[in-house]
Amino acid sequence: MSYFDYKKGQLYCEGIPIKSLAAKFGTPLYVYSTHALTGQFKILTRLFAGQRPLICYSVKANSNLAILKLLIGQGAGLDIVSGGELYRAQKAGCPAKRIVYASVGKTKKEIEEAVRYGILMFNAESLSELRVLDAVAGRLKKKVKVALRFNPDIEPGTHAYITTGKKETKFGLDEYTLQAVYLHPAAYPHLSIEGIHMHIGSQITKAAGFVKAVKKVKTLIARLDRRGISVKTLNIGGGLGIPYDEEENSVVDEVKKQVIPFLKGMKVRLIIEPGRFIAGNSGVMVTRVIYVKDTPHKRFVIVDGAMNDLARPSLYGAYHRIIPVSRNARRTTLDARRVDVVGPVCETGDFLGKNRDLNVTEGEYLCVMSAGAYGFTMSSQYNSRCRAAEVLVNGTNARLIRKRETYKDLITKELV
Ligand code: LLP
Repeated sequence: MSYFDYKKGQLYCEGIPIKSLAAKFGTPLYVYSTHALTGQFKILTRLFAGQRPLICYSVKANSNLAILKLLIGQGAGLDIVSGGELYRAQKAGCPAKRIVYASVGKTKKEIEEAVRYGILMFNAESLSELRVLDAVAGRLKKKVKVALRFNPDIEPGTHAYITTGKKETKFGLDEYTLQAVYLHPAAYPHLSIEGIHMHIGSQITKAAGFVKAVKKVKTLIARLDRRGISVKTLNIGGGLGIPYDEEENSVVDEVKKQVIPFLKGMKVRLIIEPGRFIAGNSGVMVTRVIYVKDTPHKRFVIVDGAMNDLARPSLYGAYHRIIPVSRNARRTTLDARRVDVVGPVCETGDFLGKNRDLNVTEGEYLCVMSAGAYGFTMSSQYNSRCRAAEVLVNGTNARLIRKRETYKDLITKELV
């Protein structure tokens, strides 16, 4: 069910017309639906009901404190990748024992902060990192739990930039290095190496890659088992794709039929790290048309949201549906013109959508759909543009969860 739908020609988020939010809070504006977020979390709980995993929501997808708090309240843990995300996790009140920490470049300082906080587990990605982890744990007199990130060399069938489980990528350890670490734990006396972690990529819409990865890791776990080593935790990462287009199907059914059977009977504690699946279709970016510009070649719809607000179209050529906030009854699709929806940033790569059939007038609001994940978190102040505001809707209630930045915010850290 969608929590972003038209009623009498007006686009709503839950019980509130988006037009009224745009008028009240200004644009560009990120709008999130509480029930969409919790609903997606519940879908995963049901999907993995037989495994009862710890669901560590991936903070990078959308790290607003209000959203973290909401999900923590639903029982989620958090998957973090930096000291900054650890700080957010703490501020959102996440119990330490529900935090897992991945990243190829954790610094000594970041490791120390996380060890002190007492997080559940580090997902270690190199031998050098293991040495630093061990040294820090020793110095702080702690036994630190570690999962080794496995690079299974698998093609997940997604954009190259977000493919993370192939041997050419910087992530994880190959199976031989991983086994060697498991077989010689005495090299790291202050670590308890008890899990395997994987994350093969993001926006994966076919189960085939997951199936191959789970098969591979199952073989690896069995091989270790034969050598007397029991792997206690298996973290299969995130990566579940979402439909960005109305016609696309969700990957959930395929995962249910093809992946879950492989997990059955495995004697491991399961962890998953979904980000986009929870947040992606739970949020939109609302933007206002500044000008409609016709050239002999093309019509440009110039809006007040840009690549600095939503980088995905520019960065990955990603498709986001763009729809009017108010459907005008007098307007028909016959009036629609093929347009490029572009922002004010001074780059040709600054577009939100290309070749869209839209009939718009200056001043009206448009909604960029599926912007809840990797939207605000990847936004910047490029072109000295103030970052957008964020609003969380719950029924007929709307709460500002991040204020729009001001010009002062742009220079606050600068020294002259
Ligand atoms: N776990 C690890 C170790 C990750 O690196 C990621 C995402 C996740 C979990 C969550 O993945 P998800 O469930 O959201 O697919 N900026 C890109 C996506 C980058 C994903 C990076 N890692 C985009 O806008 O498509």
